[in-house]
Amino acid sequence: MVQTLLRWSRADAPDASEALLSDSERSRLAALARPQDRALFRAAHVLVRVAVAEATGVAPSSVTLVQHCEHCGEAHGRPRVLVEGDPGPEVSLSHAADAVLAAVSDVPLGVDLEPWGGVRAGVERLALSAGEQALLAARPASERPDALLRWWVRKEAVVKAAGVGLRIDPQQVVVSAPWEPAQLLHGPAGLADFTVIDLHAIPGYGAALAIGAPGPPTLAVTMADLSQIS
Ligand SMILES: CC(C)(COP(=O)(O)OP(=O)(O)OC[C@H]1O[C@@H](n2cnc3c(N)ncnc32)[C@H](O)[C@@H]1OP(=O)(O)O)[C@@H](O)C(=O)NCCC(=O)NCCS
Repeated sequence: MVQTLLRWSRADAPDASEALLSDSERSRLAALARPQDRALFRAAHVLVRVAVAEATGVAPSSVTLVQHCEHCGEAHGRPRVLVEGDPGPEVSLSHAADAVLAAVSDVPLGVDLEPWGGVRAGVERLALSAGEQALLAARPASERPDALLRWWVRKEAVVKAAGVGLRIDPQQVVVSAPWEPAQLLHGPAGLADFTVIDLHAIPGYGAALAIGAPGPPTLAVTMADLSQIS
């Protein structure tokens, strides 16, 4: 079985941990206006190094995160890592509210997390096909917000695993309904081969993993302590 490491943390990486980031990441960080966005970005980009360091047995400072957007060439988009200068494992990261999630594996993967109750207005019409919206509307009203969030994180995990993000219409990514076991049912070419797994261990958050390998139905997501990282 493919080894996959999943770590989450609150967005509390100390300011000094910025020393681990690349110049490009520090520029992106400095451009964020809101302190909470800076805290999230810093924590996520530190956490992915901590997770890769744990998976590969090096120090976090030996892990470089590289982002080069295939669309516009800017230093954002799908993250990749170098370990001591050589291509490292596959990674994915997600940040929302005050939590961050990072995943490491030897096959392509994507993770997404959202706080329960935190799905933005309009996501239903953006993410769900007309048929999916009708299925959701048939559920008891009290269930709908959490069901929508579960649906959304499953789909986002898939588009991140594929490296395309929301350049693909999420309505074309058909995952099982949230009250059914997680599964990718249908997607545009190249998106059909991911296993989708619901992640439950992050208090207050719904999360999902999509991974390019047959996976177990559950995977442990353990908390990382970023407070001592510098
Ligand atoms: C990736 C995306 C689905 C994530 O959205 P989100 O839920 O708001 O944010 P999350 O915190 O869960 O994930 C963000 C992380 O996903 C990663 N990511 C971004 N684009 C990605 C992609 N194409 N594939 C995989 N991962 C990606 C990044 O690491 C990003 O974190 P960072 O910005 O701090 O480096 C969405 O932002 C997206 O599709 N963006 C790209 C759209 C695009 O390509 N526009 C053209 C730009 S020129």
